[in-house]
Amino acid sequence: MLLDRHAPVLVTGSAGRIGRAAVAALSAAGWRVRGFDCVPTPGIADFMVGNLTDFSAVRQAAQGAGAVIHLGATPDDDDFMTRLLPNNLIGLHHVLEAAREADVKRIFLASTGQVNWWQQFDGPWPNRPDDPVTPRHWYAVTKVAAEAAGKAYAKSFGMTVLALRLGWCPRTAEQAAELDSLPRGHDTYLSPGDAGRFFVRALTADLPPGFWTLFVASRPVHQVIFDLEPTKQLLGWEPQDQWPHGLETFS
Ligand SMILES: NC(=O)c1ccc[n+]([C@@H]2O[C@H](COP(=O)([O-])OP(=O)(O)OC[C@H]3O[C@@H](n4cnc5c(N)ncnc54)[C@H](O)[C@@H]3O)[C@@H](O)[C@H]2O)c1
Repeated sequence: MLLDRHAPVLVTGSAGRIGRAAVAALSAAGWRVRGFDCVPTPGIADFMVGNLTDFSAVRQAAQGAGAVIHLGATPDDDDFMTRLLPNNLIGLHHVLEAAREADVKRIFLASTGQVNWWQQFDGPWPNRPDDPVTPRHWYAVTKVAAEAAGKAYAKSFGMTVLALRLGWCPRTAEQAAELDSLPRGHDTYLSPGDAGRFFVRALTADLPPGFWTLFVASRPVHQVIFDLEPTKQLLGWEPQDQWPHGLETFS
């Protein structure tokens, strides 16, 4: 199924690191983009400031959307009750329910390589989408939940749902330095440019209803940690960048 290019693509977390990369790439490729974030989104006219925990706001944002790219979340381990539970789990519920009500055809859920955390160290490599999960901690557990919920919605409601185990896209210069210092950092990197190109390709692809878990990362430098072959086979997408290429300036 091809998506209607006239229907807006709702991007939650549109003001964030990956959200801004997605918004810029989609807008440049001619997609209509609607941002949703608890802070204003630079670079687009159509955005809502709202909280993912506010169901009526999420419902309003999903009205008329042809696809949803759900990036809004607390993007790493944090206090469970005040951050991970509302932002990652209640928000997940509201986005999926609002998308179902609005008859959205295609949903992308941001997962993380951290769901295969221990396998990244212990192998076997590369980590494949079907390998048993080995989550790092509660943040990764919220993403395991997102993958499970996405599968349930795809099966129950005939949606096309892609759970994306995204590589490491540093949000600050400090995070970039940390990535650079770690043995597997260079091999788990995701550039903003590759992220943006991924979303353009994944929206343009002709896909049937169903559920897929895919890794999305830039080209490894030393060792293949994430298996990108299923991503290539399903979508025809391959990364172009390799650490530190495409590392944009931090604002
Ligand atoms: N950057 C990475 O290395 C990385 C790796 C794997 C997965 N991810 C996932 O990708 C997604 C985007 O990550 P990012 O690095 O761009 O993070 P980010 O923090 O830069 O962006 C997240 C955005 O979500 C918004 N947000 C958070 N809670 C919200 C709420 N309750 N209501 C409305 N908006 C809310 C924030 O304001 C922020 O703009 C997240 O789901 C994250 O878990 C990121």
